[in-house]
Amino acid sequence: MVTLLENPLRVGLQQERVPEPQILVIFGASGDLTQRKLVPAIYQLKRQRRLPPEITIVGVARRPWSDDYFREQMREGIEQFSEGIGSEEFWQDFAQGLYYCSGDIDNPESYQKLKQLLSELDGKRGTRGNRVFYLSVSPNFFPEAIRQLGTAGMLDNPIKNRLVIEKPFGRDLASAQVLNQVVTKVCKEQQVYRIDHYLGKETVQNLLVFRFANAIFEPLWNRQFVDHVQITVAETVGLEDRAGYYETSGALRDMMQNHLMQLFCLTAMEAPNSLDADSIRNEKTKVLQATRLADTRNLELSAVRGQYAAGWMKGKRVPGYREEPGVNPNTITPTYVAMKLMVDNWRWHGVPFYMRTGKRLPKKVSEIAIQFREVPHMIFQSAAQQASSNILTLRIQPNEGISMRFDVKMPGLQLRTRPVDMDFQYGSAFGKSSGDAYDRLLLDCMLGDQTLFTRADEVEEAWRVVTPALMAWEAPTDPASVPQYEAGTWEPAEAELLINRDGRRWRRP
Ligand code: BG6
Repeated sequence: MVTLLENPLRVGLQQERVPEPQILVIFGASGDLTQRKLVPAIYQLKRQRRLPPEITIVGVARRPWSDDYFREQMREGIEQFSEGIGSEEFWQDFAQGLYYCSGDIDNPESYQKLKQLLSELDGKRGTRGNRVFYLSVSPNFFPEAIRQLGTAGMLDNPIKNRLVIEKPFGRDLASAQVLNQVVTKVCKEQQVYRIDHYLGKETVQNLLVFRFANAIFEPLWNRQFVDHVQITVAETVGLEDRAGYYETSGALRDMMQNHLMQLFCLTAMEAPNSLDADSIRNEKTKVLQATRLADTRNLELSAVRGQYAAGWMKGKRVPGYREEPGVNPNTITPTYVAMKLMVDNWRWHGVPFYMRTGKRLPKKVSEIAIQFREVPHMIFQSAAQQASSNILTLRIQPNEGISMRFDVKMPGLQLRTRPVDMDFQYGSAFGKSSGDAYDRLLLDCMLGDQTLFTRADEVEEAWRVVTPALMAWEAPTDPASVPQYEAGTWEPAEAELLINRDGRRWRRP
């Protein structure tokens, strides 16, 4: 249990500010993300009075929709995927700011038409030339859309024009570098917002507060006290009808290079000088530069892939990955990846970071577990039989919170020890759930705050770290050699070996 104490001096990470009037232009507006996340996020932000009344959304996609049809679709999205529309009057007012512009990504005329509409809307809605261009299209279209926006002069103003790019940013180091070059040709880094929705999660932002607003953990946060770290992002879902995307991506590109690497950075980075975006991103990039797979010559000693085979989830039989609709029956795309990373710096020398992510695992859970070293000389017999119980767990989701495990004496005449948890839970401490990651990220982007977005060099470094695995696993292989794990179990045997070889075990959160 944790008691909240009022401290008026600490008002949070940032002062509350309201963005300038602006137009959010969403490319890929007929897609899932727009209806499920983006427009509902803007709607709820506006209801909370965090956005000015002039906020306007222009959806762009190929389908020949009308403004009214777009509005209906967005209303459905808000009703189905967020807290609902609230009052009809509020919805009607919001809907007046929704527009649709059909067009082709590769057709220059579409951009001229869009440009014309945006300047009309500036007059009509008072948006003063401020625009955020959000690319929610298939990643193959990113370069073309960025070039066309540049040619049409829509990114010319480094203060008023911003560009948001969804993940995945590239499919490997080389393509990420090329994409960064395309971006650099048409705009400045200060205009670019590369999204990783994990950074919008409350508990991920809390990592910074936990580490750098408390003095007591920092002295322990290093190789002298930490034995190893385990970062887990486990999902129970399978492919979810995303074969087209997932088959070309897989767990390494879809989760490890971005979401898990971000969790790793925030855990392992040095303290930034201040909270400004570049101080934080400098430190994240620096720690990535020092990071490598534990053994790049013998890949199996530092990285393992796997695919889920048919199995049981919540009493229901589920198909294996290779049997999913749209998936090549001989596919080698991994749905599970485990890695052992080492960081070559003073703080972390010799401390392994074990990272794992997978689909169709027994539980949805994302957590960072810091396992501390054992005491130098254990005098209690019952404690000596087990590994050190001192574990600090940062629970990212669900059941968001932090717990510290330590040994206590069990009541009774015998001197027996047992590990217990000291637990902080967001839900019970604050009594409200944290907002959706997209609310936070869209608001920050509209405010011009890049702290929670990844910088060009950071993305490239993250790709560099995973490159040896990517290259080895991309090579033609006998499909039979890809390790399998039964749906509803934790990992393939090879992944167990990865950590057991070091005399350690995966957690079962
Ligand atoms: C997305 C991946 O980025 O993150 C999905 O493309 C994955 O495959 C999702 O399911 C997980 O996000 P969350 O927020 O549910 O942990």
